[in-house]
Amino acid sequence: MSSIIEDLIARKIFNSRGEETVEVDVITTSGFGRASAPAGKSRGKAEVVYYPQGGVDQAIKKIDDLIAPELAGLNADFQEEIDNTLHEIDGTTNFKGIGGNTAFAISLANAEAAANSHGLLLFQFLGGSTATTLPCPLGNCISGGQHARGKAPDIQEFLALPHGAEAFLEAATANTLIHRKIGDALKKKNTLFSGGKSDEGAWVANINDTDAFEAIAKACEEVGNEMDFECGFGIDAAASSLWKEKEEKYIYEREEKKRDTAEQLEFLIDLIEKYHLTYVEDPFHEEDYESFAELTKKTKNCLICGDDLFTTNNERLNQGIKQKAANAIIIKVNQIGTLTDAAETMQNAQKHGYTTVMSHRSGDTCDWHIAHLAVAFKCPIIKTGVVEGARIAKINELVRIEHFLGNRAEMADLKIL
Ligand code: PGA
Ligand code: ZN
Repeated sequence: MSSIIEDLIARKIFNSRGEETVEVDVITTSGFGRASAPAGKSRGKAEVVYYPQGGVDQAIKKIDDLIAPELAGLNADFQEEIDNTLHEIDGTTNFKGIGGNTAFAISLANAEAAANSHGLLLFQFLGGSTATTLPCPLGNCISGGQHARGKAPDIQEFLALPHGAEAFLEAATANTLIHRKIGDALKKKNTLFSGGKSDEGAWVANINDTDAFEAIAKACEEVGNEMDFECGFGIDAAASSLWKEKEEKYIYEREEKKRDTAEQLEFLIDLIEKYHLTYVEDPFHEEDYESFAELTKKTKNCLICGDDLFTTNNERLNQGIKQKAANAIIIKVNQIGTLTDAAETMQNAQKHGYTTVMSHRSGDTCDWHIAHLAVAFKCPIIKTGVVEGARIAKINELVRIEHFLGNRAEMADLKIL
């Protein structure tokens, strides 16, 4: 069996928002891999640049003219060498040359092609025989902030985390029930509710943050009782999008309230205590490591997670570790470009006791590779929505992995909770 790269084929396809994105096929002497890149809407400032000047068309041209000839003849088994070659061809520090999404699609397609060349599934190829733990699905049920249009909560995401489930399929079932119950409750509360959903398939309704908290708390409690395991929940505040630099305040438009940093801290501590939140992502803007650290210090049994704060970047993570800024990190491979870079960040995070949360993007494709990455890299949580095609593609792939593993499969233990 040989994994020598013969060719790369690149094409333009669309993500779930109908935006153009890049898909890459990697063909080896005895295998094949395909991957496509997602896109964020509330992006971190420190993320790599998605595309070179000229967008997806230019990315494809670069793959055809520059990258495919360079990678042909290399061995797909050596992921680091492939990813280093991508950095060399790019020649910048933020993938401005070839595009981070270009690098992402090639990097993932290469890993898939290598696994396929050996007759293995990706999670087996990357994780070996110890990759038997399924992540707990963190599912977006109500959208607000930049992910919603019109009147909606100020907080970007209200997320279910059924951490008491003993199997992935049960956890995923709980999330669908919680999502459905919330939809029913929203309709009951306001007959004008039209059933609108965001890009991530979460409900978009004319309610405020408090209504959203009450709705998800009730649904999680009911489903937890019905299924007989703990269903927690949390939020992604995506606070960089609330923060107004000039005023040095977090602006809650819907609530018509402005909070300075101290008030934001107090607000979050109160929410965590009142609703027993188990997960809080990006509670402060992306440069405020100090306030992250304050919150992490002052709360117990709650994951304080950095997304825009870290952007899957190992240097930013090191800064966070130094300042004890958080206890969890979002992993979005396309924030940093290659699998090798993301793996380095994940390993560093885990070494320092951080919970790694493998994540989709709001604009995503039906590419399901993050399901395999979560299992291969032992991420205790995967954040990938509850409904909508691009989300279900990942959820269903995890159901398949659990089925494939049979009685070797186990659920991740969320130690902090
Ligand atoms: P995205 O954000 O729109 O950048 O994918 C989702 C998130 O903030 O987690
Ligand atoms: Zn986020």
